[in-house]
Amino acid sequence: MTKGKLVTFEGIDGSGKSTQILKAYNHIRGRGVECRLFREPGGTALGESIRSILLSAAEDGLSMDGYTEFLLFAAARSELSHTIIKPLLESGCTVLLDRFADSSTAYQGYGRGVDLDFILRTNGIATGGISPDLTILFDIDPETALTRPGNFDDRIEKQGLDFFRRVRSGFLTLAKSEPGRFKVVDASRNIETIAREVYRCIDELLG
Ligand code: ADP
Ligand code: TYD
Repeated sequence: MTKGKLVTFEGIDGSGKSTQILKAYNHIRGRGVECRLFREPGGTALGESIRSILLSAAEDGLSMDGYTEFLLFAAARSELSHTIIKPLLESGCTVLLDRFADSSTAYQGYGRGVDLDFILRTNGIATGGISPDLTILFDIDPETALTRPGNFDDRIEKQGLDFFRRVRSGFLTLAKSEPGRFKVVDASRNIETIAREVYRCIDELLG
């Protein structure tokens, strides 16, 4: 059976992932390749409900234990992976994901101090063992990313700039540990220059 490719887009808030994933989606479809696009947390009705719990808790200033937070992200991931992504990949469809397991390692692990081994093992179960064929990491300093339009000011105020520095460096550590899977792109450049680099990576993967 043909297996579809899984490509994940990762990076800190404001790094430009969502802008680039939409362009990449149109690029792939323009080549006549079957492709679906999802975001995490979300992508299923249950996942979107979990997303609203997480975002409304953050907006209401409710403190949440790092493990609770991780397990909610992992629950949304489990639902999406088992019910949507796995069947799509098995049918040969290419899947693009705005965030996946690496976001938990970077945000809850490196950012909030949740045990990294626990995250790794739980993610293994939540993803059903699916691993991305390619992960594009949009690397940028938090000062630049979080001053872009998109209400990121609130997030700096709530979590602090140091939190996002730890998350960025967590992503870079992951990229170094798996250089075959990760492609790190400089996300401080203009949208079209970055998009050209993203298209190149994807075209190389899809052949
Ligand atoms: P993310 O999904 O990583 O949080 P977005 O794609 O939503 O990031 O982009 C955050 C904001 O920055 C949006 O207002 C978007 O228009 C803008 N933006 C995205 N990419 C760039 C770029 N390369 N240069 C400047 N602004 C950008
Ligand atoms: P979202 O509005 O989608 O942010 P962005 O456009 O930057 O992706 O909100 C998702 C937030 O959830 C974002 O701050 C990253 C965070 N997150 C985690 O902390 N852990 C995770 O496992 C995932 C998937 C997201």
